[in-house]
Amino acid sequence: MKRWLMVLMVCVVPSAVAAQSGVNVPPSGSYVPRLGDIMNTVQTRHVKLWFAGKSANWELAAYELRQLKAGLVEAAMLYEGLPVNNVTTMVQPVQSVADAIEAKDGKKFTRVYADLTSGCNACHQSIGRGFIVLRTPDASPFSDQQFAPQGK
Ligand code: HEC
Repeated sequence: MKRWLMVLMVCVVPSAVAAQSGVNVPPSGSYVPRLGDIMNTVQTRHVKLWFAGKSANWELAAYELRQLKAGLVEAAMLYEGLPVNNVTTMVQPVQSVADAIEAKDGKKFTRVYADLTSGCNACHQSIGRGFIVLRTPDASPFSDQQFAPQGK
């Protein structure tokens, strides 16, 4: 047997044993992500959206925007306590960013991205989380991901 395979098996076996004894059996109810965790993924998309747009990688930017939007929709659906007004005020900036991406308009992208970020902060302020302040990122923490389009 290959050495790496043995190492892998050694790593896997203890958790198989744990499964039998019940410690990692998934709960029967459906998993509801915590709001802060959904927001953390929204933050990730917010960062990646910026670097994709700045790199004129419009396909990636469109993808990240879809992910960001899905995260906000999920938050609104799961957490009814979120102020509906602040969810709906995100519709316009999200649409403007989508339009900028569609038009491959870097200048407009920069402008409407700022509006999007203000929308994030407006909700945080209205809900007693004014200390969570988003801004335009200045360096990508994702050094393992290429933001420039392939071949550029
Ligand atoms: C409709 C309201 C609303 C909108 C819109 C909103 N957030 Fe949030 N966000 C919240 C709430 C509420 C919390 C605090 C969650 C908690 O206390 O568990 C939060 C928390 C966060 C956090 C902190 C997570 C952590 O654990 O560190 C980040 C980051 C964040 N939001 C990013 C964003 C970004 C980026 C956007 C915009 C693209 C956004 N949020 C839009 C309501 C919103």
